[in-house]
Amino acid sequence: MRGTSMAEQKATNIHWHEGNVTREERQKNLGQRGATIWMTGLSGSGKSTVAVALEQVLLQRGKHAYRLDGDNIRHGLNKNLGFSAEDRTENIRRIGEVAKLFADAGMLTITSFISPYVADRDLVRKIHDEAKLPFLEVFVDCPIEEAEKRDPKGLYKKARAGQIKGFTGIDDPYEPPKKPELHLRTDQLSVAESVQKLLDLLEARGLLRA
Ligand code: ADX
Repeated sequence: MRGTSMAEQKATNIHWHEGNVTREERQKNLGQRGATIWMTGLSGSGKSTVAVALEQVLLQRGKHAYRLDGDNIRHGLNKNLGFSAEDRTENIRRIGEVAKLFADAGMLTITSFISPYVADRDLVRKIHDEAKLPFLEVFVDCPIEEAEKRDPKGLYKKARAGQIKGFTGIDDPYEPPKKPELHLRTDQLSVAESVQKLLDLLEARGLLRA
């Protein structure tokens, strides 16, 4: 199976060490619940734009939010990963684990990664479910024609010219979510409207208070 080797437990003789404070105590101090808001979608669909705007509004409202962004994480933690199916799987697995830690710490964690494979996103959901942490999958959706027209980084142009191989949506797959918690059509909604829908979801799930 794809990605198994990177994900398997290697170390032996390791033991979980509990702390003296609970997640509930952390959440009470922060006045909110920790959760992962997982944006998935094509390059240029608006994941990062919406994530940036949501993070800002949450902070303005006195909440603690933090963004984990594909391009940024690939400069550091995941700098040794490329865009093969195996590397994308490992990219998402690591981010899933990091997001879970942030959520456990009480943070409203907003991730923006293409995360093209259903199985990889489902694994991250499972990691959160097992830890009893909310996981909200958000499909940041716009037609590829629109993403290609926006082409904020000029990457679709390069991919069409054959200068990038295995570009998502061109010659690499994107598997859309079947049952996301939220579906944002960014070709039909303004950024502010998308943010409002996200805030409504967080409110409805009771995540904006401890
Ligand atoms: S993922 O597929 O592993 O989730 P991730 O979100 O981290 O991808 O990175 C995607 C970003 O890397 C894109 O927004 C784009 O800027 C850049 N990129 C470079 N090469 C590719 C490629 N072959 N496919 C998709 N994105 C690429």
